[in-house]
Amino acid sequence: MPPSCWVPEGYVVFKDRDALSGRNWTPEMERAFSPFYLVWKTDSVAASELPWPYGLVHIKLIERNRSLAGNISEGTGVMRGYHLFRRYCLSCHSINKTGGQVGPEMNWPRNITEYWTDQNIKNYIKDPGSFRYNAHMPAVKQVDDQGIDDIIRYLHYQKEHKYPE
Ligand code: HEC
Repeated sequence: MPPSCWVPEGYVVFKDRDALSGRNWTPEMERAFSPFYLVWKTDSVAASELPWPYGLVHIKLIERNRSLAGNISEGTGVMRGYHLFRRYCLSCHSINKTGGQVGPEMNWPRNITEYWTDQNIKNYIKDPGSFRYNAHMPAVKQVDDQGIDDIIRYLHYQKEHKYPE
């Protein structure tokens, strides 16, 4: 079991050398994924835990410490929360406009903890369907109660570290 901060290496690729003739893709896939697409180098993480390898729309270089991790001290609950958020939430949710766009942004312009209670955030993470019919967020089962508390600590921390640019 890899440590919680572990994320596999991601590669931007344009060709599958093992495919006999091209990529064997349908024209629709060719259009959607060309010229580059994203793959993860791993065989120890369930594919469902990683962002899906869809075609790349753009590449944005970010200063991780500035937009995602602020000046968080090592070994704190906030830091544990950051690593958990990065692994289990960031593929769908952005912080300071950095991250996935499947679910809502968590910090800009208003931090989620400014309009949701901690308890509701916690319950939502465990069971979105108990709040909303047809919720599109899957229940996050891989993080235990203490981990969710750390994620919420991280969200509170980000409230004081908003970077709009
Ligand atoms: C597979 C994508 C996905 C993952 C992973 C995911 N979420 Fe979500 N989340 C969503 C979507 C989509 C919504 C919008 C409401 C809905 O459809 O459930 C949402 C809604 C929420 C909400 C309610 C906010 C609102 O206004 O709707 C919270 C809080 C939340 N997510 C937190 C988290 C946290 C924390 C994690 C990681 C532990 C996480 N989510 C992981 C997709 C995801």
